[in-house]
This record gives sequence, C-alpha cells and structure tokens, in this order.
Amino acid sequence: MTSKKTVQNSKRIFITGITGQLGSTLNKYLSRYFNVLNNQENFYNIDVSDRSELKYFFKELSPDYVINCAALTNVDFCEQNKSKSHEVNVDGIKNIISCSKKSTKIIHISTDYVFNGNKKIYLESDTPDPLSYYGKGKLESENILRTSNRDFLILRTSVIFGKTGNNFYVWVRDSLRNNQKISVVTDQISNPTWSWSLSEAIYKSILSNISGLFHYAGEEVISRYDFAIKVAKVHDFNPDRIIPIKTLDLDQKAKRPLHSALDASKIKKLIDIEHPSLDYILKIIS
Ligand SMILES: NC(=O)c1ccc[n+]([C@@H]2O[C@H](COP(=O)([O-])OP(=O)(O)OC[C@H]3O[C@@H](n4cnc5c(N)ncnc54)[C@H](OP(=O)(O)O)[C@@H]3O)[C@@H](O)[C@H]2O)c1
Repeated sequence: MTSKKTVQNSKRIFITGITGQLGSTLNKYLSRYFNVLNNQENFYNIDVSDRSELKYFFKELSPDYVINCAALTNVDFCEQNKSKSHEVNVDGIKNIISCSKKSTKIIHISTDYVFNGNKKIYLESDTPDPLSYYGKGKLESENILRTSNRDFLILRTSVIFGKTGNNFYVWVRDSLRNNQKISVVTDQISNPTWSWSLSEAIYKSILSNISGLFHYAGEEVISRYDFAIKVAKVHDFNPDRIIPIKTLDLDQKAKRPLHSALDASKIKKLIDIEHPSLDYILKIIS
C-alpha cells in the first residue's frame, strides 16, 4: 500500500535561488515532505539567465514544480543596473517557462513593490503601479507568467525576514549588537513576513493544488521603525540607538511604496494557514 508520505515524496521540486533567504528556508521546509531535486552541492544554484543550463537541468531532473525564488532583490542596485536586473527578474521567468515542460507547475514569488503605496492595504484585485525599476520588473514577470498558458501560482509577499540571510531583522539585530546607531524610517509601513511561515504557505498551496495570484504576508501592519524597536526589546538592546527618520531624509536611488501592506484573506479561504504574531516569531528566532 502506498503511504501518504510516499505520495508526497514523489513530488519533484526544483527551487531557483536556493541559497537566498527564502530559497534556503523553503529547501529546509519542503525537504521534509518532498523530493527537492537541487538541494545538493553539484546542482545547487542554477543561473536563471542561462537558458542552456536551465534546459539541461530541467531535462535531466524533470521537476513537477519549479519554485522561482531567484531574484535581484536590492531595490537600489536594480534602479542603477537596469539591464542586469531585467536579465534576472524578468528574463529569468521567461527562461523558466520556455525551458521547462508544459506539465511543470511554476510557483513564482512577487512583491508588494508592484503597488504605489497610496492605498494602505492591498488586495489581489487592486491595480499595480510600481514606483521602482525592481517593482516594474517583478510586475512584468508576473504578467509574463499569467499570460504564458501554464499552470502557475504567484505569491506576492512583503519584507521577508528570518534568523539568517540578508534581511531587515538581521541588519537591525547585528547593528545593535555591535553597538552601532541606525537610522530607520517611520513612514514605510508593511506587514513583515516570516520566511518559515511563507514556506508553510507554499507547502500548503502545493498540497491543495491552488493556482492563480495570491497575497501572503504577516498579520501585523507596522513601520520599519516600530519593527526595529521590537527587535531591540526582544534582545534587550538599547532602543535609543535607533534613530527615527523619514524616507525623504534618505537619499535612496529607488522610490519605495510607503503603505504597501498586503491583504492575505483570499489565500486563507483556500488553505489553513495562520501567520504567527511578530512578538512570538521574534521570541523564537532570537
Ligand atoms: N526580501 C524581501 O523582503 C522580499 C519581499 C517581497 C518579495 N520578495 C521576493 O521573494 C523572492 C526571494 O527573495 P529573497 O529575500 O530570498 O532574496 P535573496 O535572499 O536576495 O535571494 C535571492 C536568490 O536569488 C539568487 N540569484 C540572483 N541572481 C540569480 C540568477 N541569475 N540565477 C539564479 N539565482 C540567482 C541569489 O543567489 P546569489 O546569492 O548566489 O546571487 C539568491 O539565492 C524574490 O523573488 C523577491 O523578489 C522578497
């Protein structure tokens, strides 16, 4: 008799961007249930801008799902390096579509930065209006996938964080630990998303076989400044080292949406998922 676990294990998953903060967490999460095909050294990080590499590995490994976590995520870098950003964030999904079999489902991660931040909380039905080159590229990548005639899932998320990786929580924690003063904006407001909870949402979306465009993000809508204060408190660091500033005070190359929280109620009607509270997450990862 085939057990439930064997059936799940038979799902063959390929994660692009597997060394990044979401990719590596997702690898840990999904490897408990599924066969993550590229979780070994020799297969590791396949370049999504290299069509021949993708073609070779997709043919060789024959995944049922490709989960695209590969991206250039430094918003200011993308603003100043448009062609490099386009190569990864836009051509990457085109290459994944054209190099994989039609039966392979594509799960693609997108962002709240597709919105202009004027509405405060965004539904999937709201009209995107990206302010940065990064946001424009991510929107273009969504549209390419949506019109590709492929079975797809796009998950838009916001301010991903976790214990490790290149993220806001780690930056605040490590700066304060090193007794540095940091300036943090009080007027960029979003709902930060724990990489482990996002991985759980992806896992449950695969089990429930849902397709289409969805938002998944944390429960609390909070400014970067208030988030940083919570990080200081949980570690018992001096919060006075966090200097409140406004976005306009920063000379950032790319514009950011100011209120870009994502409403996740659509996906929560289809899968049983609750994002834990920020206080709870900070306690367990600190
Ligand atoms: N970080 C956030 O707050 C946030 C918010 C909303 C949405 N997202 C989206 O979530 C997804 C995952 O983000 P993340 O936070 O995990 O980003 P990350 O930590 O910066 O990881 C990005 C990954 O992409 C890889 N990569 C870069 N160029 C590549 C290429 N040409 N081919 C293959 N892989 C390449 C990187 O590898 P190397 O390190 O070797 O370059 C890394 O493994 C992205 O789609 C991002 O747009 C992120």
